[in-house]
Amino acid sequence: MFFASDNWAGADARINQAILDHGGGFTSGYNNGELDKQVEAQLSQIFECDLSVFFVATGTAANSLAIASVSKAGSVTFCHEEAHLVSDECGGPEFFSGSRLCPVPGRLGKMDPAALRTAIARFPADFLHHGRPGAVSITQATEIGTVHSLEEIGRIAAVAREHDLPLHMDGARFANALVSLETTPAQMTWKAGVSLLSFGGTKNGCWCAEALICFDPALSGELAFHHKRAGQLFSKSRFVAAQFKGYLDDDHWLTMARHANAMTARLAAHIEASPHARLAVKPDANEVFVVLKKAMAGELRQKGATFYEWAAPLSHSDLLKDDSEALYRLVTSFATSAGEVDAFGAALKG
Ligand SMILES: Cc1ncc(COP(=O)(O)O)c(C=O)c1O
Repeated sequence: MFFASDNWAGADARINQAILDHGGGFTSGYNNGELDKQVEAQLSQIFECDLSVFFVATGTAANSLAIASVSKAGSVTFCHEEAHLVSDECGGPEFFSGSRLCPVPGRLGKMDPAALRTAIARFPADFLHHGRPGAVSITQATEIGTVHSLEEIGRIAAVAREHDLPLHMDGARFANALVSLETTPAQMTWKAGVSLLSFGGTKNGCWCAEALICFDPALSGELAFHHKRAGQLFSKSRFVAAQFKGYLDDDHWLTMARHANAMTARLAAHIEASPHARLAVKPDANEVFVVLKKAMAGELRQKGATFYEWAAPLSHSDLLKDDSEALYRLVTSFATSAGEVDAFGAALKG
């Protein structure tokens, strides 16, 4: 019963096979090989536009380089107050970009567009001392397992556009959000106003494959220098490309994400049926947040379940009735089985 993180799952067999298939022989490196170009063309088809792809090792690198590529001296990047960018990247985006992050509140892991407008207004263009707005970043799926609708992305994008700010999307769980909305990659990104996308593969079956996708040709030239300077331009880039090939071929990435989301929905049904647990937030993707008595969490762990205790989101500080309760996060993946979800359900009944 492994629900600690989708990072705990190994790699999917088709992705491992793709690495083997492309591992032999000689080919040029540094994103210039045949396979690198094939994957870029494949992504361009999937997103229905011209784009540039920069393979990176981690989601933190993708986010950091995205922000770095659009930052100027004194830049401020606006993101949700629970965003991975501001809470879980050890200052990486600030380090690489030299810009500051400004946390913006909002329910359900999503920035409130009015609060975003207010936050941006605190940095008037003619007042040097505060710095200046540089970019807006959203997370899709969010850090509390919800998904922005296209309208919600559009409303945030409209505020960014009002101020001429590029919009970045942290898509560490992009596939999970996409299949949840049943929309197209284009609709969820550049057609909604996104210029830069951190496109995650690792959490959804790859073993180490993330990409920064740039939809704006005006940004990609500069980005190439940030990418190299940050030590993220792999010499043997074909091994990242191979993972993405195994990932994208035959819509395998979407199949894996649908499975992960279905497992979370199944888990949520067990939680809703239990008198010992309650859902903190209705899950839209592959993470579910649940309130449990601490004693019950201990029992579940003794029975073999792994999951993390989680700090209550700032915008949901009323989730816990008293100190005997805590908030926990459970994450499913392509590798989660219905059997282990049902075993958790049975343990919850006990
Ligand atoms: C929302 C989000 N963004 C980005 C990341 C990428 O993090 P990492 O640098 O660990 O690959 C994660 C991983 O937990 C995440 O949950």
